[in-house]
Amino acid sequence: MSHQSALIASDIIAYLQEHEQKDLLRFITCGSVDDGKSTLIGRLLHDSELIYDDQLAAIRTDSSRFGTTEDGIDLALLVDGLQSEREQGITIDVAYRYFSTEKRKYIIADTPGHEQYTRNMATGASTAELAVILIDARRGVLTQTRRHAYITSLLGIRHFLIAVNKMDLIDYRRESFEHIAGDVRSFIAGLGVADVRVIPISALNGDNVVHTSEHMPWYGGPTLMAFLETVDIDRTDNRGDLRFPVQYVNRPNRDFRGYCGTIASGTVRRGDEIMVLPVGKRSSVERIVTYEGDLDQASAPLSVTLTLADEIDISRGDMIVHPTAAPTVGRFVEATVVWMHETAMLPGRQYDFKFGAKMTHGVVRAIAHKIDINTLAHVPAKTLELNEIARCEVELTEPLVYDGYDIVQATGSFIIIDRLTNVTVGAGMIARTQPTSVETRNVVWNESKISKAERANQKVQTPAILWFTGFSGSGKSTLSNALDQRLFALGCHTYRLDGDNIRHGLNRDLGFSARDRVENIRRVGETAKLFVDAGVIVLAAFISPFRKDRAMVRNLVEVDEFIEIFVDTPLEVCSTRDTKGLYARASRGEIRHFTGISSPYERPIEPEIHIRPADETVGESVERIVTHLRQRRIVLT
Ligand code: ADX
Repeated sequence: MSHQSALIASDIIAYLQEHEQKDLLRFITCGSVDDGKSTLIGRLLHDSELIYDDQLAAIRTDSSRFGTTEDGIDLALLVDGLQSEREQGITIDVAYRYFSTEKRKYIIADTPGHEQYTRNMATGASTAELAVILIDARRGVLTQTRRHAYITSLLGIRHFLIAVNKMDLIDYRRESFEHIAGDVRSFIAGLGVADVRVIPISALNGDNVVHTSEHMPWYGGPTLMAFLETVDIDRTDNRGDLRFPVQYVNRPNRDFRGYCGTIASGTVRRGDEIMVLPVGKRSSVERIVTYEGDLDQASAPLSVTLTLADEIDISRGDMIVHPTAAPTVGRFVEATVVWMHETAMLPGRQYDFKFGAKMTHGVVRAIAHKIDINTLAHVPAKTLELNEIARCEVELTEPLVYDGYDIVQATGSFIIIDRLTNVTVGAGMIARTQPTSVETRNVVWNESKISKAERANQKVQTPAILWFTGFSGSGKSTLSNALDQRLFALGCHTYRLDGDNIRHGLNRDLGFSARDRVENIRRVGETAKLFVDAGVIVLAAFISPFRKDRAMVRNLVEVDEFIEIFVDTPLEVCSTRDTKGLYARASRGEIRHFTGISSPYERPIEPEIHIRPADETVGESVERIVTHLRQRRIVLT
């Protein structure tokens, strides 16, 4: 729907040119059910004289059937396109609407306010520059209002228009409006959003929507439409770092090899030095080819074909960037996740993760904290329910290329997909800072010239991690030491990592809180993985009381490379034996978080090898393990 310009009749070409050059504003409308979104959009269109006569006539007829207004026409019917939402009186999907005025063109993403539809809301917000959030003047700021403001700000929206609607129902009272405006401002300030405009309106009566209200002389600001027409949106798309995800490799003949894609962010120039990720190979841009001919430079969101000076192996999903402003390449991501499904998210469960065109799988390793939407406080959480938002640590099975969402939106977000049903269950915005991750910007994976298999062959064995878990004093160290000697005698190349020893050096800075234990096991896991890569059989003896952490180490290496050995000495036996005197001290409360006393131990469910020291001698256990290792062809002698 377009503005009715006089030019249409006199000079259609001039009109079309003028229209084409108009600035485009994309905004999203959100609010709770009944806040009056559809009525507001209807009112905007109606008062801007953007509705054709036949449409108006149709609404008049419908108003008598479905309408909720007592007299006159129900403008909500103009936009509530779907039959079911008409009948239930709610909006159930994102509806995009286009209209234009003399000054601007607009795309509205009209999104649902019903509790279950956060997902659609997030979809609508992902392309918007401004959010119009409706509040019912009688109800003030609700949890849902806060959630919408939070999600839209998470998705990078920096301009907010808060429409305090239904002012007619509170007699256009200034104090009530000021009170709500104060609430809104203080909440939104907490989100780090600078541009907030609060406008008192009545969508039903048209107050301050397009025309200035006569009922609120105390309000001196712009009408909603005046604000939309003049708000200054700062668009930073092209100033960002270059991100060019390769969508297709075009090789029509031997002389031409072009990489096609849409520039997701930044600008590429002919002659630029570039790097291809995740491998990190370098070259320079030879040509920027488009349908209309070659360009000297191109910026987001243009689709182009690049040719490079060197022949390098690039495939779909790779990313071309400038080496001076490279994104992160890695398997660990810290992100704010919005959960969108009735089935709660569980840390440790496998999901598919889609980063742009690239799909991989992985787990949410831990929920750092959940966000209490009313207070913005950080609260601990084990799972994430529908509509909840949390800071999570994600671990992927292969290294991907990504940015912080606040640096490059296109490469800074991902969606989470259920592996069985293929349903999108969550969305994540990658946090810029990654305090727990060793990976930083400009770090790439450097491939070794000698493979793991070559190293293993040289040692005539198959590398693996033998992971001993059990209570303190269960006999892990004794058993792993005996096995180590036996394997050494067989000519195997082994190395033993032991909890007490590692905590003297590498992990000297860690204690026994759940968080420190996770980090303890993570570092040990990474170290063990390096040994496996070196072709060595690693014997790791750690209490490692949490299943999730043991699973994390298992997931670090190949399927057959992790062997869990449960040293199952009952707690009573360990605490009676108490060789280090620690159980006695823990019972007296002198040691905090002591496993079995004041911190839990989660027994392995299906360990590869289950040792009950009460039932056999150390020598017998060692032989049983050696037999198992021979069967699995880890030990070949
Ligand atoms: S783990 O839980 O993080 O896997 P780890 O195996 O590295 O523990 O270290 C356990 C050793 O630290 C124990 O054998 C014991 O000697 C010592 N220790 C000191 N404090 C504690 C504690 N609170 N809980 C368990 N072990 C402790």
